[in-house]
This record gives sequence, structure tokens and C-alpha cells, in this order.
Amino acid sequence: MTAPASDPGTPPLILAIESSCDETAAAVLDGPDSLRSSVVHSQVDIHRQYGGVVPELASRNHILAIDTVVADALQQAGAAFQDLRGVAVTAGPGLTGALLVGSEYAKAIAFSLDIPLVGINHLEGHLRAAALGTTPGFAPLTFPCVALLVSGGHTSIVHAEHPGVYTEVGRTLDDAAGECWDKVSKELGLGYPGGAIIDKLARDGNPAAIDMPRPMLHKGGDHFSFSGLKTYVLYHLREHGRPTGQDLHDLAASFQEAACEVLVKKTLRVARRLNVKDIVVSGGVACNRRLREMVLDAAGRRGLRVCIPPPSLCTDNAAMIGAAAYPRLARHIAGGAGFAEHTMNVSASWAVDDPPPEAVRTAAWDGPPL
Ligand code: KG4
Ligand code: ZN
Repeated sequence: MTAPASDPGTPPLILAIESSCDETAAAVLDGPDSLRSSVVHSQVDIHRQYGGVVPELASRNHILAIDTVVADALQQAGAAFQDLRGVAVTAGPGLTGALLVGSEYAKAIAFSLDIPLVGINHLEGHLRAAALGTTPGFAPLTFPCVALLVSGGHTSIVHAEHPGVYTEVGRTLDDAAGECWDKVSKELGLGYPGGAIIDKLARDGNPAAIDMPRPMLHKGGDHFSFSGLKTYVLYHLREHGRPTGQDLHDLAASFQEAACEVLVKKTLRVARRLNVKDIVVSGGVACNRRLREMVLDAAGRRGLRVCIPPPSLCTDNAAMIGAAAYPRLARHIAGGAGFAEHTMNVSASWAVDDPPPEAVRTAAWDGPPL
């Protein structure tokens, strides 16, 4: 299969694939901020019965879903494989087996069409999701910025000086914040994933009802710790029993207040120290109503702007991978530099400010960052 020569008048179409955890996703873009389609197949119903993601099941179900997900993304974009000029895929961090399904699929497409391939860091994807849109009332994505990337697998504060130039300033030393929401929900017998459930309950609760700890608020530098907060809730339940009625709403609101306060205060502290005026919040936990409200309020009082993508772009998706990849692929396409090497590794623990995993030959590190 060979892709026809690019028509210089039309922006190149790229395909992006994401499979780092339990969402199989594909998207087609015709610009860094121009999305033609985005399809997300969630495995949450499969993992719910185990109370969390089972890596082996995630890989198997990515294999079952990926063909249909990619076909749907192409069809919704009104495109065929032959129209593609580049392919992007999440190369880490994430579950190794799950990452391999997406990366092998992407390699096969790039190899058969002889088009460039780029491996994208999942956290960079969460950050650059903001290029595709912000929530009404929030600011657009602007560099330099300080990004709070907060999901079920990650909690990091990243200083993004330019697109492609990142420093991870802080991270969680134990559980990710989203994991904490999920575990509290599980302890309360409310199901998985717990973020949205707790968020909804908290709306009718009193956030000051229970004085929850604010873990590492005044120590640990820019790092976070969430396992102590989870344990506090567990001991509270052992002592008082599982709450019902208004007590349940109050517990949800009190827990959420503590977790959000630490996330927001630490992020704003970094922004102040680095003299950065723009804040980005992204990742699944960025859907949280209280977190959005608190960061907007606190940032507004300090004259800072906040960008938060709409919820569908905060949770895992492939559009964000395409947004991060587009400038890099476009440069290769414009330069006519074909990409001969279709070998690419994945890395379960690829930090956002590290070079891509050993032996990765991608467009990303060939030239100045974008
Ligand atoms: O970004 P994401 O889809 O996947 C990962 O990369 O982990 O994030 C999923 C996480 C889950 O832990 C889920 O409970 C959490 O995001 N989440 C929320 C909310 N919606 C999703 N946490 C708090 N409040 C929410 N409204
Ligand atoms: Zn994610």
C-alpha cells in the first residue's frame, strides 16, 4: 500500500492512536488544533467487576477493539487509509502490553503506507489536548504554562516553556490523585471508576463537615502524596461505619475539598515561583467540578489564567495524541523527509521530560522541539 503524493493545497491528514490504559482510541486530524474525528472505546465495563484495570484484560480487549475503532475514526473523518500522511501513537507511560497493541498497529500502518510515525508521551498528550479546545469560560492554551496533569495513573506538575520543552517539577510519590478518588469510592461501596460518583455526591455535601488531612501541603516541595488521605478515609469508615444519606454527601465533599486544595495550592505555588501566568489542568480528574471551580477562583485572585479542556478531551482519547504529534509530523511531511525506520519501542515509565525510549526513531527528536 503506498500513499499518493501529498496535494500541497490540502492540510495533511494524520491518524492518532491511544491504548495506554483501558481506552482504545483513534482520531483523525488535519491540523494541530483541527479534529476531524475522535473515537473512544472504553473498557470500563470489563474492569469494573475487578474494581480497577486488569492489565492482561486491557491488552486483550485492545486487540479486539482496535480494528473497529480505527475504521470508525477514518469513516467519521470521511477518509481512507490512503489519505493518511502520518501516524502518531502513545509510546508511554502506561501498561506495557496495552501500549504494545497500539504501537504495533501504528507501525504496521506507517510501514505499509510508507508514511512517518511518531511516538508521543501520554502526559504530553493530556497537556496538548488543550490545543483542541478549552471549556467555555476558561482561557485558551498558551505557552509558557504550568500544567497540572491529574488522572487515574498520573499526578504531575509540569513546567511547559514551549511546545515540546517540558520539565516535570512535581509528581505523586505514591498514589495518583484519580486512584485516590477511585479507592475512596471503593471503600464506600460505590463502584469503579469513582471520580465522577464522588464528584456528584459532593455537590450536596458540606466540604467542612470532616476535617480531612491535606497531605504534604506544607512539605515535600512540589510533590504530592495521596495514600495517606485514602487511609484516613478508611480509618474514618472503620470508626464510624459506612455513611448514608447526608453523611455520605458530607464525606464525599470533605474528601474532595482536601484533595483539590492540595492539587490547586501546589500548582499555583509553582506558577508563582516560576513567574508563569498560564495554568493548564488536564487528565481525567480535571473533569471534577470542585477542582475546576477552585483553580479558577484561586488563579483569578492571583491574576492567572486557567485553561481546562472540555471533559471529553480531559479523559483518555487519541485526539490529544494527534494534537501533540501534528507539528512534528507536518514538518516531516512538508520537508518530504520520509521516515524509513518503523521500529519503535514503548516505555511503561517514560517521564514527560525524558527523551523517548531507547531505540525509538521518531520525528520528535529530530530538530528543534515543536
Ligand atoms: O485520564 P483518564 O481517563 O485515564 C488515566 O490516564 O488514568 O483518568 C481516569 C481517572 C479515574 O481515576 C477517574 O476516577 C478520574 O479520572 N475521574 C474523576 C472525575 N472523572 C474522572 N475524578 C474526579 N472527579 C471527576 N469528575
Ligand atoms: Zn491519561
